[in-house]
Amino acid sequence: MRLTYTSDVWWKNAVVYCLDVETFKDGNDDGVGDFRGLTQQIDYLAGLGVTCLWLMPFFPTPNRDDGYDITDFYSIDPRLGTLGDFVEFMRTAHDRGLRVIADLVVNHTSDQHPWFKEARSAKDSPRRDWYVWSDKPEPDNPEQVVFPDKEDSIWEYDKGSRQYYLHSFYRHQPDLNVANPEVRDEITRILGFWMELGLSGFRVDAVPFLIENVAPELASPHDFLADLRAFMTRRKGESILLGEVNVAYKDLVTYFGEGLGDQITMCFDFIGMQKAWLSMARSDATPLAAALRERPKPPKDCQWAVFLRNHDELTLDKLTDEEREEVFQAFGPEKDMQIFGRGLRRRLPTMLGGDLRRIKMAYSLLFSLPGTPVIFYGEEIGMGENLAEEGRMAVRIPMQWSEDGGFSRAEPVREIPEGSFAPDRVNVADQKRDTDSLLRWFQLLIERYRECPELAWGDYTVLETGHKAVFAHRCDADGATVVVAHNLCDTAQEVELTLEGIDGYQLTDLLADGTAEVSDKGAVRLPLGPHGSRWLRASPPRISPEDASVKSR
Ligand code: GLC
Repeated sequence: MRLTYTSDVWWKNAVVYCLDVETFKDGNDDGVGDFRGLTQQIDYLAGLGVTCLWLMPFFPTPNRDDGYDITDFYSIDPRLGTLGDFVEFMRTAHDRGLRVIADLVVNHTSDQHPWFKEARSAKDSPRRDWYVWSDKPEPDNPEQVVFPDKEDSIWEYDKGSRQYYLHSFYRHQPDLNVANPEVRDEITRILGFWMELGLSGFRVDAVPFLIENVAPELASPHDFLADLRAFMTRRKGESILLGEVNVAYKDLVTYFGEGLGDQITMCFDFIGMQKAWLSMARSDATPLAAALRERPKPPKDCQWAVFLRNHDELTLDKLTDEEREEVFQAFGPEKDMQIFGRGLRRRLPTMLGGDLRRIKMAYSLLFSLPGTPVIFYGEEIGMGENLAEEGRMAVRIPMQWSEDGGFSRAEPVREIPEGSFAPDRVNVADQKRDTDSLLRWFQLLIERYRECPELAWGDYTVLETGHKAVFAHRCDADGATVVVAHNLCDTAQEVELTLEGIDGYQLTDLLADGTAEVSDKGAVRLPLGPHGSRWLRASPPRISPEDASVKSR
């Protein structure tokens, strides 16, 4: 494998860092994060080692769904800055080698968007068909209601124009009618606008909802995704779509563009994520191992995006009721920690009881899983949540820069948590000075992940370990091999792995000092501490481990 591939197909082993400008850093002392503040922190992000920033929505919004309700797709929420600030930020990010993608939320608009105001003004409004209308409330399937805490239907009556409109999410988020060619054109124009300002792609919000109404306009709803991707590639070959597609694996592969890989570049692995949590709850690697064995291989130049937490609830919707209950009991037993009957509104460290060893193991597992890791701001320092905030906002709290918070000199837009995860206990400044901190651990993991393209680019094999608490896998690319093992339980374990094709090799630890020998029968014994993790590079006899990584061919 030539390393030059990793610059063309850069996303395959990128490290994606999701942040909300609003809660990252306040640059003008008004309590709201902004582009100026974010730009001042760019060297922190570059130093962490992440390679791609994903910005949550930063567009004008009435803010009834934290910016996922947009009133103008071509501009910046004035609270966060100006287009000028945005361009300055982009330039600085690019200078530090960081790519930037942004949320593309075009399944719906805000009901305050001028398009919707015009559409609802009269049945014969030229924009009427930009949204989805019906004379009667279509039969509702309760399973279609995404936010059951606030909604019980996906149709809302518009008194003024006397029809019902479709809203897959909140009633103030009417669905755009993507079957209308003008709407599809406008969406393309939005992509083109932000790409011209330097974006390398988009995280596509709610993809299945976006295309569900396109038929019968297009032969297949998926043609719309292929059209978008083709447009992007024409304009800028390196651009990507990162899709929020939480469906079963067998349906998911169609979103990559079956066989062709011409639709969504990377899809989040929601199934692997949920099974990883179940495995952690049980200290049993079996569910995660089964998911990874079952997970389809994406088409060439497509990739899985792996994650443990994001800005939404930790959804457990793909587990059985019993399994979900197990995860609830282990990581969020109180009603107030749960949401929508399917998820948890907590961050990872609190769920793992603040146990640093276990937290480090979880992130080591994340960075070693085959795919492109995506992290949510604050994970690198182990921020907790603030349950006093409403719903999913509990995890979207101000970034903790220093002992006194450091997010803003004014009253912050969202409350800072108190207690053992408050800024005086968890902050960037302290962890920079502490070589054992989680922040330093993240830096090491990211450095090693980038040095081991096998992890993301290679073929992976889940290994038998003989111990249910230990998850082990190997990744092979062009004759180079990395072996990884994680102990999900709190007692030391020793496993014996069989490693075909590398008998007589030496394994060298990449996260600590250590080696292990693979016998001439291909067996190796690996001791693991409680919640221990090991990443090992295989090197043939007389070749140094430094020279055993992927070769150019
Ligand atoms: C996606 C986002 C979520 C938002 C919803 C509606 O699921 O991740 O935060 O509320 O779409 O736009």
